Amino acid sequence: MEFVLLSVAYLVASILFILSLRGLSSQSTARRGNLYGMIGMAVAVGATATASAIDQYPLMIGALVVGGGVGALMAARVAMTAMPELVALLHSFVGAAAVLVGWSLYLDAAGHAGGRTILLIEIAVDVVIGAITFTGSVVAFLKLKGKLSGKPLLLPGRHGLNLAAVLSIVALTVIYVQAEGTDGAWAMGLATAIAGALGVHLVVAIGGADMPVVVSMLNSYSGWTAAAAGFMLHNNLLIVTGALVGSSGAILSYIMCKAMNRSIWNVIFGGFGAEPKQAAPGQAAQPEGEIQEIDVESLAEELRDAKEVVIVPGYGMAVARAQHAVHQLTDSLRGHGARVRFGIHPVAGRLPGHMNVLLAEADVPYDIVLEMDEINDDLGDTDVVLVIGANDIVNPGALDDESSPIYGMPVLEVWHARRTVMFKRSRSAGYAGVDNPLFYKDNNRMFFGDAKDSVSALLAALA
Ligand code: TAP
Repeated sequence: MEFVLLSVAYLVASILFILSLRGLSSQSTARRGNLYGMIGMAVAVGATATASAIDQYPLMIGALVVGGGVGALMAARVAMTAMPELVALLHSFVGAAAVLVGWSLYLDAAGHAGGRTILLIEIAVDVVIGAITFTGSVVAFLKLKGKLSGKPLLLPGRHGLNLAAVLSIVALTVIYVQAEGTDGAWAMGLATAIAGALGVHLVVAIGGADMPVVVSMLNSYSGWTAAAAGFMLHNNLLIVTGALVGSSGAILSYIMCKAMNRSIWNVIFGGFGAEPKQAAPGQAAQPEGEIQEIDVESLAEELRDAKEVVIVPGYGMAVARAQHAVHQLTDSLRGHGARVRFGIHPVAGRLPGHMNVLLAEADVPYDIVLEMDEINDDLGDTDVVLVIGANDIVNPGALDDESSPIYGMPVLEVWHARRTVMFKRSRSAGYAGVDNPLFYKDNNRMFFGDAKDSVSALLAALA
């Protein structure tokens, strides 16, 4: 009876997780999607905790209170812009948990005779992917936090080293599976250590600018490691949830790779974005021309006459927390008779969907928020594009400067508009550390200042 109830609870939780992912695919249903996910997790944890196999309640409750408390505190404190770091850290916990669960099960199973082979293979898969996820995520966290250099560390023959590591792990797994009792523990230990070193090596070879894709890929790995743990523990919910996380993480990585014109295989094998033909950040061609500024009154004048306005938000809008002011600006411009739309680059800001979340928080209507592919063709017929705290995602060098580190990344082609205005504090570069030729274009004007202050000043001038 208990088994049936537990299975039903797990089935309900699995369905809720699927509905959650589906909800998260669009801004208008994202809140509901989150709610489904939370209910699903509560059902899963509740059902597992009340199963009769659980007999260590004080330990379990203690772990839940400490882990939940630390998690809640971290989530409440983290700035939106530091979210990728937090996500990387959380993935490292999943990896570490997988390694520990795998090892404890191995030591437990060592006493059993026959029927161990499949279990030992499941344990090996779980521990190896878990170790790669753990160390890779720690390195990604340190790189995002700036504690480790963002420069890719490219060891000579790195792909050969990776291959040798994978082959040694396979050989050691064969040895450990064939060994009696815990005699193969040394091979398993060595395989764990090599997997950990492989995780470090794969991620140190990738430049800081490409870390978001790596974090998303590690998310996928953490899912697969959970699925392997599900097989190992005969837990269907873990298998389903792990597969959902694994596949959605892989799809997200693929989408991000496409948005940044990177090869997904290079993310998986390490060292992508670091091919020798690419220049180091800052080595792109130096743009020529003059930077022209605009004052608030002249900008307000131009906007009063504009019929088509596109707003391109970027990381700077997040830093300045200007999203509410930007929404007010949208209303004001619409009041003056302009059609206002937003153009969102897939990697604007510092995490997938960053701009969408901020605009949704400020209650900007969803139907005027368009993706890059939906708006790029309309930019030529646009009167004014307001680029608010964005830089790399509107850099024309990505299309025509082969020496640029971001060459090949699709961008919002705002320079086709009659006028572009860049809201930023200085002439400094964006995330990729590369100069932006848009600054120097004839039809571009710079509106220097903190994005929130600038938008507020513009609002006052338009009133
Ligand atoms: P960036 O290229 O980083 O440019 C942001 C600009 O905002 C900077 O040039 C900065 O110039 C300006 N800024 C900063 N604070 C500001 C403030 N308070 N007020 C006004 N302006 C401010 O951002 P982007 O265009 O959004 O492009 C995203 C970049 O991040 C891409 O290179 C992408 O690959 C990378 N990345 C993306 C992700 C994801 S998944 N979205 C994750 C990590 C990295 P000033 O200093 O002159 O003000």
